[in-house]
Amino acid sequence: MCGIVGYIGTKKACPILLAGLNRLEYRGYDSAGISTIEKKGLSLMKDKGRVKNLSNLDGINELEGTIGIAHTRWATHGVPSKENSHPHQDNSKTFSVVHNGIIENYNELRKFLTENGYTFYSQTDTEVIPNLIHYYFTKDEKNDKQKYLRAVKNACMDLKGSFAIEVISSLYTDNMIVVRKDSPLVIGTCEDEKYLSSDIPAILSYTRNFYLLNDFEFALLTRNNIEFFDKNLDKINKKVQNIEWNSSSAEKDGYDDFMLKEIYEQPKAIRETIGSRINLNSKCEFEELNLTKEYLQNLNKIYIVACGTAMHAGLSGKNTIEKLCRIPVEVDIASEFRYRNPILDEKTLCIFISQSGETADTIAALKLSKEQGSKTIAITNVIGSSITREADYSIYTHAGPEIAVASTKAYTSQVILINILAIYFAEVLEKKDKDILNKLKSDILDLPKKIEETLTCNNQIKNFAKQIYQEKDIFFLGRGIDETVSKEGSLKLKEISYIHSESYAAGELKHGPIALIENGITVISILTDKDLIKKTISNIQEVITRGAKTLVITNQKLDNDMFNVVINIPDTNQFVSPILSIIPLQLLAYYISKEKGLDVDKPRNLAKSVTVE
Ligand code: AGP
Repeated sequence: MCGIVGYIGTKKACPILLAGLNRLEYRGYDSAGISTIEKKGLSLMKDKGRVKNLSNLDGINELEGTIGIAHTRWATHGVPSKENSHPHQDNSKTFSVVHNGIIENYNELRKFLTENGYTFYSQTDTEVIPNLIHYYFTKDEKNDKQKYLRAVKNACMDLKGSFAIEVISSLYTDNMIVVRKDSPLVIGTCEDEKYLSSDIPAILSYTRNFYLLNDFEFALLTRNNIEFFDKNLDKINKKVQNIEWNSSSAEKDGYDDFMLKEIYEQPKAIRETIGSRINLNSKCEFEELNLTKEYLQNLNKIYIVACGTAMHAGLSGKNTIEKLCRIPVEVDIASEFRYRNPILDEKTLCIFISQSGETADTIAALKLSKEQGSKTIAITNVIGSSITREADYSIYTHAGPEIAVASTKAYTSQVILINILAIYFAEVLEKKDKDILNKLKSDILDLPKKIEETLTCNNQIKNFAKQIYQEKDIFFLGRGIDETVSKEGSLKLKEISYIHSESYAAGELKHGPIALIENGITVISILTDKDLIKKTISNIQEVITRGAKTLVITNQKLDNDMFNVVINIPDTNQFVSPILSIIPLQLLAYYISKEKGLDVDKPRNLAKSVTVE
C-alpha cells in the first residue's frame, strides 16, 4: 500500500528516486510524486497516474538536488488526483513529507490545526503531518541541534495509526529524517549515500547493507552518517544487516512480466525453501524453533491465520498437520480472526503466514494471540519484516523477492514450508511411522524437478486461455486438498484477468451453485486426491450434462474423452500436490490476462502489500 523512496547522497536524486518508484510501483500505482532539496527551496512535482506520467512532467529533469523523497500511491483517503498525491507540504512549504500507512485520528488533528490557522488543500490523512511538524517547529523556542528532530518526533507522537514517513526541509539542506510505526521502511547504506525504501528489492541494485527500523525509531540522515534515536530522542545503536538477495532477482530478466518470471522461478524457490531443512533418515531441522514434545502434546489446537493466497497455503498446512500429528487445526482469515474473540491460551499455537510480513490484519491477529498467551510462529519471505519483530519464532521461505501483485512462488514456498513444519511437529511428537515421513521427505526433495516437468504444460494452457479469455464467469471445483488449490486458482484468475470466478467443494455444487451452470460455461477441476477422484468425476459429470466446458488438471490416468481439455501433471505425495496442481492455474490466469491486454503485474485496485486494514 503505497511505496516510498528516498535518497541522500552526492548524485542527482531525481533519476534515482524515479528508478526506485518504478521498482516500487507494485505497491500502489494511482499517483506519484517527488520532492527534492533545491538551491531555491523544496521542489514538488506530483500528479495522478503511473510513475511514467511523473517522469514526463515538465521540469522534472531540471531538478539538481541530491536529497529527495518520492512516493507512489494506493489511494486510501481521497480520490487519485494531483492534490491528493504525495509528497505533501506544510502551508509555509518548509517541510515535505511522504507517508505510507493510515493516520486514524487525522480528522481531529486537522481540526486542531485548522483552529491554529492552517489550511488544507487535499482530502488526505497525510497532509496533517507536515503541518504538525511545522506547528511544533515554530512553537519550539529552543534553537538547538535537535530542534528539527524534536518537531518531527512531537508530530509523530500525536499520530494514531500506521506510518512510515520521510521528511525533508528547506531549513536543513543536508538532512533527512525518517521514522516508522507499523509500516515498512528500510535504509540502505553506502559510504556517502543513503537509500530509503518501503522494501528491499527497490534499492537492491545500490547496496546489500540495510538498517531495519523498529516502531518509533527515528533516523537522522546525512550523506555520510546516520544517527538513530528512540522515542525519547535518546541515541540508540543499530546493527547493519547484510541481505543475500541479488539485484537480478528484482529485475524481469528477459521475461515479459514479473509474474511469468516468478512462476518459472518456482523450482529454484522451492529448492531454497527446502534448503537444509529436510534430510532423509534424520529429523527435520528448524534451528529457529525449540518446541518440545511436551509442549506440542499439550496443545488443544493450532490456528493458521493469514490473508488471501497465504491463507490458501494455510489450508494445505491444516491437511498435513492434522493427518500427521492429529492436532486440530483451524485456518482463519486474519481480518476475521482478530475481531471474533478467538479462544486462545497457552495451549493454542498460532501460525501466521505472510509473504510480505507487513499485512496489517495478519500482524494485528498475531499481536492479539501473543497478548492472550499463545506462542506465535511467523512464516514469511521478507527478512526483518514487521511480522518477524512481533512473532516468538520466525521462519523464512527464502523464495527471493516476489514483485508481481499476484502471488505465485510465495504460495508454493509457503505450502512446502508448512508441510516441512508438519513433519517437524510429527517427528518431535514421535507420532508417525518413520517410513511414512521418509517417503514424504523424499517426495518433497523430488518436487523441484517435478515443477519443471509441470511447467511444460505452458503451451497447452496458452491455447486454452485463447479459447476462454472472453468469458464472464468461470467455476473451479475440487475435493479435499484439491479444493484448497481450486480456491487459489480462482483467486489468481479474479485478480489479474478480472473474470468473475467461484471455487466450490465439488460436493457442495448441488446444494445451490449448480443453478448457475449453463450451456458453454467453463468449469475447471483439480483431480489429484486418489481417494476422492471418483466422487469429483461424478460432480464433473453433472456439470457436463448441463452443458459445461471442462478443463481437468490431474496426476492420474483418466478417460480423457470425457473432458474438453486434460492437463497431466506429475504424480506426487498427496500432501504436497498443490505445489504442482496450482502451476497450470497460475499460467492460465497469466495467459488470460495477457490475451485481454491487461497489466498482469499491476492489476487494478490491488497492491502487493496490504498495510492497512
Ligand atoms: C495474492 O495473489 C494476493 N495478492 C493476496 O491475496 C496476498 O496473498 C495477501 O494480500 C496476503 O499478503 P501477504 O502474504 O503479504 O500477507
